[in-house]
Amino acid sequence: MATDAHSIPAPPAGPVPFEDVKAGLATLLPEQDREEKKKELLSTLPSKTGAYTTGYCYKGFWLSELVVQGVAALEQRFQPRPDDVIVASLPKCGTTWTISLTVATMVRRAYPPTAADHPLRRLNPHQCLPFLEGLFAGGEEGMLDALPSPRLINTHMPLAFIPRATPLGNGGRGCKVVYVCREPKDMVVSLWHYIQRISPQTTFRQTFDSACDGTTPWGPFWDHFLGYWGASITCPDNVLFMWYEKMLREPIESVKRLARFVGQPFSAAEVEANIVRDIVELCSLENLKSMDANKTGHVNPHFKFPREALFRKGIAGDWKSHMTMEMACRIDDIMADKFRNTGLTFQ
Ligand code: A3P
Repeated sequence: MATDAHSIPAPPAGPVPFEDVKAGLATLLPEQDREEKKKELLSTLPSKTGAYTTGYCYKGFWLSELVVQGVAALEQRFQPRPDDVIVASLPKCGTTWTISLTVATMVRRAYPPTAADHPLRRLNPHQCLPFLEGLFAGGEEGMLDALPSPRLINTHMPLAFIPRATPLGNGGRGCKVVYVCREPKDMVVSLWHYIQRISPQTTFRQTFDSACDGTTPWGPFWDHFLGYWGASITCPDNVLFMWYEKMLREPIESVKRLARFVGQPFSAAEVEANIVRDIVELCSLENLKSMDANKTGHVNPHFKFPREALFRKGIAGDWKSHMTMEMACRIDDIMADKFRNTGLTFQ
């Protein structure tokens, strides 16, 4: 017998929109302690000053000063709960979209996608969940403990720095990681447009060269992708690997897959009631772009990227209007080299 879409069992307590609760969760580690630890760490790491930030290489990954100070603590202390859902990605791979779809899917019982007070109608998607490395870098990691389960968390960190997310690094118990990746040429184009918003002097060539060197933030992109890709094969119940391009082609199927993965599959009645379609529509680029919460303010208080810069074209193949053949071949060669025999491909 089909269940009525509105008579589903009581919702779990989480995820709660982070912005609504964070003021009550504030716990700060002493500033002095953090500054000293930061100086100590930075003095030991290779660094590279780019157009708008200095990157530090920690265990093979390039991190900005803003997050590097928390990385060791994060790596050692972040203990996921089994029902945590972590949305992971490199910047410009579709993070905001994937966050939105995951939020809308997981809160749908408390907030149906058409609800006027839906969190995504009043908050920027990034305000709906904590940014893991931001909390650790800011000495605010204690906030995580106070969040009700299931927690929904966002990170750009490579999987190596959240080792307990999969059973392999956590005595057989992992959590759920939704990873979104994107065709690297389009990722670079998107990154350059984004950087332009705070550093107009940065050229496309500079951004492109950094991506090829592996020094763009949280890069190299190939090691970032491959860490999660490998885990999605060895631990498919813990890591869902999504492609931005596939999400564009098959949004409905992608949301259904996501819902099954996080343990909240859509019932036949929900599908019948067009809940999946409503979620896709709520999270469409045009819809999110039109919301006041996404037209004003900044993504990050330090770098001042305007929130509206998160929503640009949202297409596959934009690299064709930005790259020379030589540039495209250079990235394609890197991909062929790094992804050879891994099974990771981009369509
Ligand atoms: P473009 O710059 O190619 O348009 P991130 O969220 O990881 O920063 O990724 C940003 C990219 O995702 C941008 O790509 C942006 O336009 C696109 N994007 C943002 N919201 C989207 C949505 N709801 N649907 C599809 N693409 C979206």
